[in-house]
Amino acid sequence: MQVKTYELSNANGMNVTVTNVGCGIISLKVPDKNGTPRDVVLGLDKAEDYLGKHYYFGVIVGRVGNRIGYGRFALDGKEYRLAKNDGGHHLHGGIEGFDKKIWTVEEADAGKIVFSYVSPDGEENYPGQLTVRCTYTLTDCNTLRIDYLAETPTQTICNLTNHSYFNLEGFDAKDIYGHVMQINADKLTAVDEGLIPTGEYYAVEGTPFDFNAPKAIGCDIEAAAAVNDTGGYDHCYVLNGQEAAVVYVPESGIKMTVTTDMPGMQFYSGNFINGSVTGKGITYQKHSGFCLETQLYPDTVNQPGFPSCVVTKDKPFKTFTSFRFCVN
Ligand code: GLA
Repeated sequence: MQVKTYELSNANGMNVTVTNVGCGIISLKVPDKNGTPRDVVLGLDKAEDYLGKHYYFGVIVGRVGNRIGYGRFALDGKEYRLAKNDGGHHLHGGIEGFDKKIWTVEEADAGKIVFSYVSPDGEENYPGQLTVRCTYTLTDCNTLRIDYLAETPTQTICNLTNHSYFNLEGFDAKDIYGHVMQINADKLTAVDEGLIPTGEYYAVEGTPFDFNAPKAIGCDIEAAAAVNDTGGYDHCYVLNGQEAAVVYVPESGIKMTVTTDMPGMQFYSGNFINGSVTGKGITYQKHSGFCLETQLYPDTVNQPGFPSCVVTKDKPFKTFTSFRFCVN
């Protein structure tokens, strides 16, 4: 199948470029406080580059995004072993996850693009066929909405999210420290040193992880990094409601509101980016973008107390996330 790019645009000067490789968002242009378009996502030069090595820039990760501890889980009494592509653990669907697949474009116009992909039974050792549909809609209210639908004729597990790295000053800005972040969550899933949940929750109040009151990302990032050696934020917040996060940066005046029906959101501050990936004329560095990956909790398949990622014939994976942009 051919690798291609597509454009979405609206009446208010927003413009989004996407590719059928991993449903990758290559650029996302939003008018800033002066009405000048700024590209607010880190991205690569061209669609083909998304097939190569990078840090999941803008793509959909799956079949199960985030981590599965020790690459192991059981479903219906049967044990499955997955690739350990993140130290001893499984990350973002394995060696060749959904981010590296060339998706079919079912329909495309200026306001909407529908991607689909059929993941065969046994792909990356996951059981059951999974048919996935991912729709990006750009509205005239400057909202980019992502709808996910994944269906199986049998039984499997699924946890899809988009892995865009944002920088609301522009993809070429130095870092994210000046972004004022608010996350609507009182706790996160406590993790061990491999970033695998222990099953307990960690109350954020009074810690560097508390974003209930708006706070600059740079304010406590070093203190957060010290807690479990993550290099910054890389944690799944347990959301209090559908309005998950609001991020604003005074320099451009751009504000982004994230809304979802998912119970969790991984806030990742681009800790592993290390100057090895170049795109759009920029060599990306540590903390040059942040991700807000709405999702079920990490390793949820191995945690009976967490919301279930099991998908059956009668229970598809159906969820949405939207990113709304305005200027302050
Ligand atoms: C996620 C993870 C991070 C890292 C990135 C990809 O956000 O939580 O630990 O693996 O993806 O670099």
